[in-house]
Amino acid sequence: MRVDAVTLFPGMIDSPLSESIVGRARAEGFLELGFSNPRDFTEDRHRTVDDKPYGGGTGMLMMAEPVYRALKKVKKRGSFVILMTPKGRRFDQSVALELAKKKHLVFICGHYEGIDERITPLADMQLSIGDYVLTGGEPAAVAVIDAVTRLIPGVLRKGDATVNETFTDGLLEAPHYTRPAVWRGSKVPEALLSGNHKLIADWRISQAKQLTGEARPDLAAAPAPVKVPAKRGRSAKKK
Ligand code: ADE
Repeated sequence: MRVDAVTLFPGMIDSPLSESIVGRARAEGFLELGFSNPRDFTEDRHRTVDDKPYGGGTGMLMMAEPVYRALKKVKKRGSFVILMTPKGRRFDQSVALELAKKKHLVFICGHYEGIDERITPLADMQLSIGDYVLTGGEPAAVAVIDAVTRLIPGVLRKGDATVNETFTDGLLEAPHYTRPAVWRGSKVPEALLSGNHKLIADWRISQAKQLTGEARPDLAAAPAPVKVPAKRGRSAKKK
C-alpha cells in the first residue's frame, strides 16, 4: 500500500512510523510512505502557509492554495483522500478495515486552527480519532496509518494475529498471561494452564463477554461484528 501525507511537519509522522512493526513494514515494502509539504508549494519570500481567518477569531488558518498544490502533487486516479479533523467520522476498527483495502491513501493534516474550508470538498472522507483537539492532524494520521498497516496481509508475522483480537469480533479481548505461572503471588488462571483447548476457548469467550459488558457496554450492545480480511500474504500462506 502507498500512503502520502500532506503536512507541514513530516517528521511528526515519519519518526513514529519508523519504529517497530510499521518501521519493518516500510523496510520490507508492505507500506510506502511519502510526504508532500505545502511549504514547498509557496511562492513568497517567507514561504507563507497560513493567514488570519476572515471575520476575525483566534489563531491562524492554513491557506487553501499551498495545501491544494501539495495534494495535487501526490494525488492520482484511484487515490483515497482523507482529511484529518476532529469534525470527522469517528475512526474505529471497521474504518481501519475499510481503508486497508485501498491502494493509495492520502492524509491531509491540518495544523494551527485548521485549513481553509474550501479544501474540504477535495477529501473523500473526514476522519477524527476522538472527541479531543490535537495540535494538528499528524498524530491522528499516525494512529490511523498504524492501525491500517497492521491489517496489510503479511505485515504481522502470525497470519491470524488480526482474527482473534479486540474489536474484530465486537468484543474486547480476554486477558493474556505469559511466564511465570505465579508472579509475585499472582497466579495465571487455571483454565489457561489446563492444556484443554476447548476449556481455554470457552474461558476466553466468557472473559471477553464479561470484560466488554463491564468496560464497554456500548460495544456489548452493538449488533453485527466487523469482518476480518481474507487471509493472504506471505505468513498466512506458510500455514
Ligand atoms: N486534528 C486535531 N484533532 C484531531 C482529532 N481528534 N482527530 C483528527 N484530527 C485532528
